[in-house]
Order: sequence, then structure tokens, then C-alpha cells
Amino acid sequence: MRAYYERRAAEYDDWWRGTGLFAERERPGWSEEVREVIDGMRALSPARVLDVACGTGFLTRHLRGDVVALDQSPRMVAIASPRAPAARVVRGDAVPLPFADGEFERVFTSHFYGHLLPPERAWFVAEALRVGAELVVVDSARRPDTPAEQWQVRRLNDGSRHRVYKRFFTPEELAAELGGGSVLHAGRWFVAIAACRRRRAAAAGPPQSPAAPATMLAAPAHAMIPSISG
Ligand SMILES: C[S@@+](CC[C@H](N)C(=O)[O-])C[C@H]1O[C@@H](n2cnc3c(N)ncnc32)[C@H](O)[C@@H]1O
Repeated sequence: MRAYYERRAAEYDDWWRGTGLFAERERPGWSEEVREVIDGMRALSPARVLDVACGTGFLTRHLRGDVVALDQSPRMVAIASPRAPAARVVRGDAVPLPFADGEFERVFTSHFYGHLLPPERAWFVAEALRVGAELVVVDSARRPDTPAEQWQVRRLNDGSRHRVYKRFFTPEELAAELGGGSVLHAGRWFVAIAACRRRRAAAAGPPQSPAAPATMLAAPAHAMIPSISG
């Protein structure tokens, strides 16, 4: 996933904007819903915020407060930095997060959680709620034509193909997975959930050590779905 996003950086916003390879894609209501998600993120109270896996900063620039944005891809960071000049954009890894306990009031992440395999997922949520009191996750909504998860084969402008693991969520499933949370957005294309450390701790009972992440699972050959989705 890391090399794929580094290679995709320059064309990544085609997905948000419906340009390039996405121009022909049938996505009713997409632009309106992108605007709603942006408005929802702008409506969050100003806070000390960490945007994990910020990509090109498409949403980062709408987060209010003292914002730090992190991504593993140097090209993504190079695009996001001038686009979100009020934020400190750094290159780094999301699991583990290179920040101290409680350094942020809110951890925000968009279209990153749904790419994580089970061991990475649990570790990421534990990390996010270690460095922040609240976790806001924006991700892809499950529609009747989408499965809960799939391995996709994605094509880039240069013709290269990449295997990417991708999940689609109902708001209820995502909230439950994050240990309980409030639904901030529930649409045809996107879901957004706000979870908090206190509620998750109460739901989980006595603390346990998070499992260390395994290496990426190999994609089963029968489950490869051709796709150029975001
Ligand atoms: C689908 S993009 C989402 C970008 C942005 N948040 C958005 O919604 O437009 C996934 C991003 O995750 C980043 N990424 C993947 N694995 C990462 C990791 N282990 N640590 C930090 N960033 C990672 C990629 O470089 C890419 O920018």
C-alpha cells in the first residue's frame, strides 16, 4: 500500500474531484457529498488535531485548530504541505504513532482505516486513542453494490497495477468496531464516526496489551477485484 500511494500521489485528487481516470465513473451525488463531508470536518471544534495518513491534504486544510498531519509518502507530504499551510505536515508512520500519550485532543483519519488488516486495525485504534482523546474516522460507505471487504486491482495513469485491500462500512459497524462512537456522517459514499478513549475503555473492560501487527496478508487469488476506486 505504501509504494502504491507514493506512486499515486500526483493523480490522487482525481478520486476526490472526479477527474482523470475517475471522470467516466458513475457516482451520483458524489460532489455534493464531498462538500457535506468537508462542511462536517469544518464544523468540528478547533482542537489540537493529528491527521493520520493525510495524503494530499484534501481534508487536512479544513481541520481547525493546531493541526499536525502525517503521511508515510514523501510525495503526499510535498503536496499537502503548501496546501495546508497552517498545519505542520510531517513524514512518518501511523503504527506506531511517533507522538506522546495525550499529545492531541483529536486524531483524525480519512480513508486509511479501511485499508488496514485486522492486527493493524486494532493496533492503530489503540495508538490513536493513546495519543488523542478522540478519534474521528472518515471512510467509504457500504452500498448494496459493495462488499464489506475486497482485494482490488487498481490501475494508475502510467498503466501500472496494484493490489489494495479495501473495506466498506455501515455507520453502525464502524462505530461498533471503534468501541462505540457518534455518527457524524452517514451517506451513500462516506461514513464518519467519532469515537472517544473514555467510551472505548468503558466498553473494553480491564486494559490489555494491543496485539503487534502481522505483516500484510497475502491476497487470495480468487478475491482480486479489478478497480480504480480511492
Ligand atoms: C487513501 S489515502 C487517504 C489520504 C487522505 N487521508 C484522504 O482522505 O484523501 C491513504 C494514505 O495513507 C498513507 N499511508 C499508508 N500507509 C501508511 C502508514 N503506515 N503510515 C502513514 N501513512 C500511511 C498513504 O501514503 C496515503 O496517503
